[in-house]
Amino acid sequence: MTPKATLTLDGKDLNLPMIIGTEGEKAIDIRNLRSDSSFITYDEGYGNTGSCQSAVTFIDGEAGVLRYRGYPIEQLAEHSSFIETAYLIVHGELPTPPQRKRFSQLLTENAPIHSSMEHLFEGFPVDAHPMAILSAMLNSLGCYYPHLATNDHQRDLETYGETAAIIISKVRTIAAYSYRASRGLPYIYPRRDLPYCENFLHLMFSTPYEPYIALPEVAQALNLFLLLHADHEQNCSTSTVRMVASSGANLFASAAAGVCALWGPLHGGANMAVIEMLKSIHAEGDDGSKFIEQAKLGKADKRLMGFGHRVYKHYDPRAKIIKESFYSALASLGIKDDPLLNIAMRLEEAALRDDYFLSRKLYPNVDFYSGLIMRAIGIPENMFTVMFAIGRMPGWIANWKEVAANPKGRIYRPRQIYTGMTARDYVPPHRR
Ligand code: CMC
Repeated sequence: MTPKATLTLDGKDLNLPMIIGTEGEKAIDIRNLRSDSSFITYDEGYGNTGSCQSAVTFIDGEAGVLRYRGYPIEQLAEHSSFIETAYLIVHGELPTPPQRKRFSQLLTENAPIHSSMEHLFEGFPVDAHPMAILSAMLNSLGCYYPHLATNDHQRDLETYGETAAIIISKVRTIAAYSYRASRGLPYIYPRRDLPYCENFLHLMFSTPYEPYIALPEVAQALNLFLLLHADHEQNCSTSTVRMVASSGANLFASAAAGVCALWGPLHGGANMAVIEMLKSIHAEGDDGSKFIEQAKLGKADKRLMGFGHRVYKHYDPRAKIIKESFYSALASLGIKDDPLLNIAMRLEEAALRDDYFLSRKLYPNVDFYSGLIMRAIGIPENMFTVMFAIGRMPGWIANWKEVAANPKGRIYRPRQIYTGMTARDYVPPHRR
């Protein structure tokens, strides 16, 4: 028998069914609450609201656990690659060797973009932010594949595998071209012989007269960065993707919306904000201690960026992995003394000893070190969040599919508690 929770409202008992997830997470099913009682729930920021049932990613924020499709992030980081993990997230299982080969082929075939799309980049001002370009281009990409972007979920699901591969492959080309457009550099054609990460670095940094050859450690650091960002449950951008998908929108449009949501400094923009924070601390001659004191005042504009998380109330497991790989990437790049890294380490040490941070369970999140990794690889700062978007694409795609394939799916439409003026009569202009 389904367990029930009892809620007493206006003297009337309501029996609300409980839902228990496969990892024992408990929820109270309030889908009939309003029709049975005229009450709604209030949960600004959705911290206590399960907006869906999902089989993609599991997080236990208290214990610092992250698993994609059941596989611990630590095992995937050690044994897998971004592309294999992307397949796992998008299709639900690790690929067999033939499936892996076919997926790689699809990615290789789809790396170039339509030549007329190259002209679209020229329409942007040279200093346009690459996240704005990326979002616009992903939406435009759907126009080149009208048969894959029908806004009819049944039809769009039939071509899901192809669309997923097109987006995962082309997002990298579009990202690199947005960077080249902003620098006035000619577009470089993708190479068929290079794996995903090496090809991205080639698209970014090769010139017509000199190919960029990525150091294996650099390509591996990028691979790990993308893998660690591949999905993260119902965060702001993934919820946005699902929200847009729930209206029946196609995968290109839904992913483009995800990019916009990711852009903000409290979400994907945090990796760039961390570097800006470290630079300004360095420029002011502070060793980090003054900044920590300011961050403790609780002002929104002086937060310790890269610290805290809505879900993790423990060290973010991704931060642990990325920090370790960061040191080996630095060693292979011959970077011995980076003043920003020294400040970051001092900030982390100080915050992990400070009662303000400990009592609020504020620990480093993935962005605390990911910006430093990107910087060491040579990725320009305004591209950091774009890199996050490339990594997050498999997660958005898998979440889009869950919405599109849900036979009982309804359009996402939260309620509100109205706090404005009550009814009043129109006032003509001369009486205002
Ligand atoms: N520095 C200083 N104080 C902080 C910080 C911080 N980074 N984060 C939270 N606090 C304080 C906050 O002022 C509040 O204090 P009080 O209880 O005295 O009012 C308390 O901690 C709880 O904060 P909150 O705003 O309720 O936390 P939240 O769950 O709404 O926000 C967060 C989570 C990630 C937006 C926030 O911790 C933050 O702004 N961190 C910095 C930005 C950042 O690194 N974002 C990347 C998130 S990880 C990447 C991703 O998955 O998107």
